[in-house]
Amino acid sequence: MSEESIDEEAIRRAGLILKTGGLVAFPTETVYGLGGNAYDPDAARKIYEAKGRPSDNPLIVHIAKAEDLNAVARDIPDLAWTLAENFWPGPLTMILPKREDLPNETTGGLDTVAVRFPSNRIACALIEAAGGFVAAPSANLSGRPSTTKAEHVIHDMDGRIEMIIDGGECRIGLESTIIDLTEEKPVILRPGYYNIQNISEVAGEVLADKNIGMKKDLPPKAPGMKYRHYAPRAELILVEGEAASVAKRINEFVSEAAKTGKKAAVICSEETKELYDCPNVYCLGSFEEEEQIAHHLFDVLRETDDALVDVIYSEAFDTPNIGRAIMNRLQKAAGNHIIQA
Ligand code: TXA
Ligand code: MG
Repeated sequence: MSEESIDEEAIRRAGLILKTGGLVAFPTETVYGLGGNAYDPDAARKIYEAKGRPSDNPLIVHIAKAEDLNAVARDIPDLAWTLAENFWPGPLTMILPKREDLPNETTGGLDTVAVRFPSNRIACALIEAAGGFVAAPSANLSGRPSTTKAEHVIHDMDGRIEMIIDGGECRIGLESTIIDLTEEKPVILRPGYYNIQNISEVAGEVLADKNIGMKKDLPPKAPGMKYRHYAPRAELILVEGEAASVAKRINEFVSEAAKTGKKAAVICSEETKELYDCPNVYCLGSFEEEEQIAHHLFDVLRETDDALVDVIYSEAFDTPNIGRAIMNRLQKAAGNHIIQA
């Protein structure tokens, strides 16, 4: 099923599965989601189990019309509606005080709720068919790279959930930007397709959570940010610096790895790929097209698993707009193992 063509019958069946307590994986414009009915505490438990995710890590509630924010959140500030007008439907998740009747299981025991109105048409049709409120984390096993294609979801979730809707490749390929609206000033908890500047243009002053760079050892506000994340099976090392020195350093690492019988891979850009002397070079795309880099990141991390790579050396991708989000995912995937060339 492509995003354009909606299989009404499949959506109806999937909606029924969700209404009766089952789980369905579905495409969104960011990554695939692993959905359950947000008002069913048992569905939330099943999601944690299927993902192998700790149950203190709250789920995002997906809605298919902005007014439905009123049904899951309370004390909604004007700013939430302004953000909704500007960024919904789309890759922005807002944290707000939760309504009492929303199960604690869905919000990992927090008194706040994360809410998102995705733009993907299949996602919206499914949410409507399910009754309007779908709790969904990314549809990957806990700790693994998020899923951006149906094959990825089948790999991680086959046999664990009732249904997977194939909507092709997710357009963006990185999870939504998360903004916390429960503090005095709005705070970005997770960078995404929208960066802090995009949001500030509409929201005025916006703070970045001190944990985003992961260089400081503070307790994160988004519980999910404390876990190792997005990780391929191979050890991943980020090498930062000027392009020629990075390539030289990585080539040295690759030849050392070969001597010890380790299979090494390199993650690089279109502009630098010729600099590498390694049989396994994965190119994310051109620096001129940062959306391509974001789009390919999780797919490439999963490809290195299939290729049974032992160690990956990656360039840094500080691109102008989505770079913050790309680097956040890479730093976490690397367990913060970063080397200056
Ligand atoms: O793009 C996305 O956001 C995707 C698609 C499927 O919509 N979903 C996604 O969900 O990335 P997940 O569960 O993989 O990541 C959600 C993050 C977690 O780090 C979680 O801790 C945080 O959001 N979160 C959820 N509810 C929260 C809350 N009430 N307060 C703070 N952080 C929260
Ligand atoms: Mg996730």
